[in-house]
Amino acid sequence: MLKKCLYPVAGYGTRFLPATKSMAKEMLPIVDKPLIQYAVKEAMDAGMYQQAFVTGRTKRSIEDHFDISYELENEIRGSGKEDRLAEIRSIRDNCVFTYTRQTEMKGLGHAILTGEPMIGDEPFGVILADDLCITEEDSVMKQMAGLYKQFRCSIVAIEEVPAEETYKYGVIAGEQFQDNLFKVLDMVEKPAPQDAPSNMAIIGRYILTPDIFDYIRNTKPGTNGEIQLTDALLAQAKNGCVMAYKFSGRRFDCGSLHGYVEATNYCYEKFHDPSE
Ligand code: G1P
Repeated sequence: MLKKCLYPVAGYGTRFLPATKSMAKEMLPIVDKPLIQYAVKEAMDAGMYQQAFVTGRTKRSIEDHFDISYELENEIRGSGKEDRLAEIRSIRDNCVFTYTRQTEMKGLGHAILTGEPMIGDEPFGVILADDLCITEEDSVMKQMAGLYKQFRCSIVAIEEVPAEETYKYGVIAGEQFQDNLFKVLDMVEKPAPQDAPSNMAIIGRYILTPDIFDYIRNTKPGTNGEIQLTDALLAQAKNGCVMAYKFSGRRFDCGSLHGYVEATNYCYEKFHDPSE
């Protein structure tokens, strides 16, 4: 039912300069895998095999990462290092990749609208790769896909954050519907703590129904003068239904140096084979 996942990856990553001067921030590695590979694996876990990227200048390395490298394949064939390519080979062999460029940075809503021709008239996932989510069992996107089957409406992932951090996120107010699930009543992009409707922050996982594109088209620039997905989702919530899901798992804000280092340490401990 959900076949496509959209990745807005045009952003500059200025917090990681100079590392991101000519390199995509989504290619920053957590231990030995780039952030974008964790994201695509997560979508595949949810049954989404069509990967659509809204990309930009300086992001060519993402396309190359998911393409074949004949020299490398040749070099590594039969060597002890072959298994280091196993996961990326299986991603490449099982998925279809499409790319389009966002030429102006006008916000997350604008990035998603730029991806419309790759998505068409069907529901789809969105992953912001710099929110890295590590779970014990089902990935966050798989958890959300299960809910989508039940409710057939847009769903955002949420997490409680300290009140003083609401200014970094879209923040919702909701009516509890069942365990960990809320019907969205209000949504504000990056509110100051005193203006925040709660401390439940949206993190970078969404399932969107395709009518979101029309809502985005009708959304005026909001916070920071950008077309905000949060504003389009609020209009959708008011006219129909949007759910907010408190996921199980751990999220690292790899768009910040602190979160990035934390994720690196956590993943090294959790996944790294000490014999390597
Ligand atoms: C975007 C969204 C925001 C959301 C956040 C999650 O903001 O606009 O609503 O809470 O992602 O990471 P950004 O971090 O791109 O400024």
